[in-house]
Amino acid sequence: MDLRDTNLLRVIEKYYEKCNYMGIPTIRWSEGQILYSVTYTYLVLTGRREGYIVDAGAGAGFSTIWMVYAVVDAGTRHSILAIDYYKRNLDMFKELVEKLGLKVNVETRVGDACQILGEYPEEVDVLFIDVEKDRYIECVEAVKDRIKPGGIIMAHNMLFPYTRSAEKYLNYMSRILGWKTTVIPSEMGIGLTVKSGGTVCLRI
Ligand SMILES: C[S@@+](CC[C@H](N)C(=O)[O-])C[C@H]1O[C@@H](n2cnc3c(N)ncnc32)[C@H](O)[C@@H]1O
Repeated sequence: MDLRDTNLLRVIEKYYEKCNYMGIPTIRWSEGQILYSVTYTYLVLTGRREGYIVDAGAGAGFSTIWMVYAVVDAGTRHSILAIDYYKRNLDMFKELVEKLGLKVNVETRVGDACQILGEYPEEVDVLFIDVEKDRYIECVEAVKDRIKPGGIIMAHNMLFPYTRSAEKYLNYMSRILGWKTTVIPSEMGIGLTVKSGGTVCLRI
C-alpha cells in the first residue's frame, strides 16, 4: 500500500483527527505532505539504500508516519526513530504502525531528544526537529557530525508562532555551520537544510 491509496490516507487522516481530539499537538496535514516529499526525494536522489531517519519531538508520530511512508514508497531499508518525552503518545504511534502492517524498522525512544541524539551511534540521513523552540540548536549540535553529507534537517515553526529562537536557529544553520538553508512557507514554516561538504553521489 503506497500513499496513493485512499484507504491508507483515510487511516492517517483518522489518526490526525484522533491526535487533535486528544489534544496531542501535530504539524499540519499539508506539512506532513512536505515531510513525505522531501524525504522521498532525498532517498531516491541519493540512492542510499539504508540508513537512519530521526523525528525529534515526535509526539504521537503524526510527523513520523509521513517519513515512514517515504521510506516505504522509495523502497529503501532505512530505520526510523521517533523520540518524545511521553511514552503514552509513542505507544499510540506504535499501535498505528502495527495496524498498518508496515515492514519498516520503526523504533521509539522515551526521553530528551537532544540527549538521545548526542548518544545516538548512527549516521543520520534525515532529521526532523519539533522540540522546545529554544533547543533546536542544541539538538543539531548534538548530532551535526553524524549527519551524512547531503543529509537533510527539517525544523518546524520557523514562521509561526514567531520566536527569536527560529531566527537564531536559521542563522546558526546558514551562517555558523554554513549549510544551505531555506524556509518552506508552509502554515508554520519548515526550515530545510542540506548538510554541505563531503561527496554525495546523486542517482540521476
Ligand atoms: C508539537 S509536538 C510534536 C508533534 C509531532 N512532531 C507531530 O507532528 O506529530 C512537540 C512534542 O515534542 C515533545 N518534546 C519537546 N521537547 C522535547 C525534547 N527535548 N525531547 C523529547 N521530546 C520533546 C513534546 O513532548 C511534544 O510531544
